[in-house]
Amino acid sequence: MALISLRQLLDHAAENSYGMPAFNVNNMEQVHAIMQAADQTNSPVIMQGSAGARSYAGEPFLRHLISAAIEMYPHIPIVMHQDHGSAPGVCLRSMQSGFSSVMMDGSLMADMKTPSSFEYNVDVTKTVVEMAHSGGVSVEGELGCLGSLETGEMGEEDGHGAEGKLDLDMLLTSVEEAADFVDQTGVDALAIAIGTSHGAYKFTKEPTGDVLRIDRIKEIHERIPNTHLVMHGSSSVPQEWLKIINSHGGEMGQTFGVPVEEIVEGIKHGVRKVNIDTDLRMASTGAVRQHLQDNAANFDPRKFLKAATAAMKGICVARFEAFGSAGNAAKIKPISLDDMVTRYASGELDQKISKANAA
Ligand code: G3H
Ligand code: 13P
Ligand code: ZN
Repeated sequence: MALISLRQLLDHAAENSYGMPAFNVNNMEQVHAIMQAADQTNSPVIMQGSAGARSYAGEPFLRHLISAAIEMYPHIPIVMHQDHGSAPGVCLRSMQSGFSSVMMDGSLMADMKTPSSFEYNVDVTKTVVEMAHSGGVSVEGELGCLGSLETGEMGEEDGHGAEGKLDLDMLLTSVEEAADFVDQTGVDALAIAIGTSHGAYKFTKEPTGDVLRIDRIKEIHERIPNTHLVMHGSSSVPQEWLKIINSHGGEMGQTFGVPVEEIVEGIKHGVRKVNIDTDLRMASTGAVRQHLQDNAANFDPRKFLKAATAAMKGICVARFEAFGSAGNAAKIKPISLDDMVTRYASGELDQKISKANAA
């Protein structure tokens, strides 16, 4: 049984200077692709499910997909994380579902549209931290609103995000507020806003330092070096998949994502979790379009879904290797969530990296 906490995995990543891609999952093909890639590269895994994933698959199906991965790959440490919890109740339901980690996204109100106050964010995040840590479950918080520094708008593809334009101070996480937030809430990991946004339409051209603020990661990491940083909206929007989609009947606009080398630079400065959903969506859509066009007589879904799985696996292998998590699965000795309860309760994990994996 290799379900582990996010905290244990990110502590290991910090101790060994690597980053973890965290892939969104909704269905069996995504889980297969991620696990096959992890098995091939000997990488630990973070899979994350959004509230949208839970309502798409249905809670029991999502839960059993993860159980199946744990059963089939007992040698791979797996974190099951809830992405963008909009309220403490959403996080509680994921914990009841067996997730080992939750995100309380208090940067927006529970409607997932209205930016919240710092005080509201601290309040809801702290509530979740108290609840989660008492069950050995880890918590990711978010400070700042994810959105484009080119347009001042949040992404609109993922079902949540503020409408209209946001001020720069909302779109860029403040260094001092980050330190205060971590101090007051005791989160295990902090998602920060640096110009990335959800979905495919992140940048109108290859991003430069003024719209993708890696320098802000460096400043925050210098101020709170013991906090694991999280990059959301970090798909790289592979141009080769964009071309395949559009040359097989698709109509995606020209767009650019977060270059892998910029993420790697972030990893050198405290980024430990990198959220990726769009890249797998694009790879599977491109592969299905291509397969169906090239095999017009086929009516067996297993054939095009296998092509989708292989395409997604390719992205996962590339990220595990680029972020340095490849080769680390076998080095992690799983700590049960029961043991994490004791470690949290003792205070030994308070704001201190490199403790969870200590003997
Ligand atoms: O952050 C959002 C993820 O891309 C999940 O998207 O809510 O459509 O499942 P979703
Ligand atoms: P992308 O849309 O860039 O894949 O981001 C996913 C994400 O941040 C999920 O929380
Ligand atoms: Zn996100």
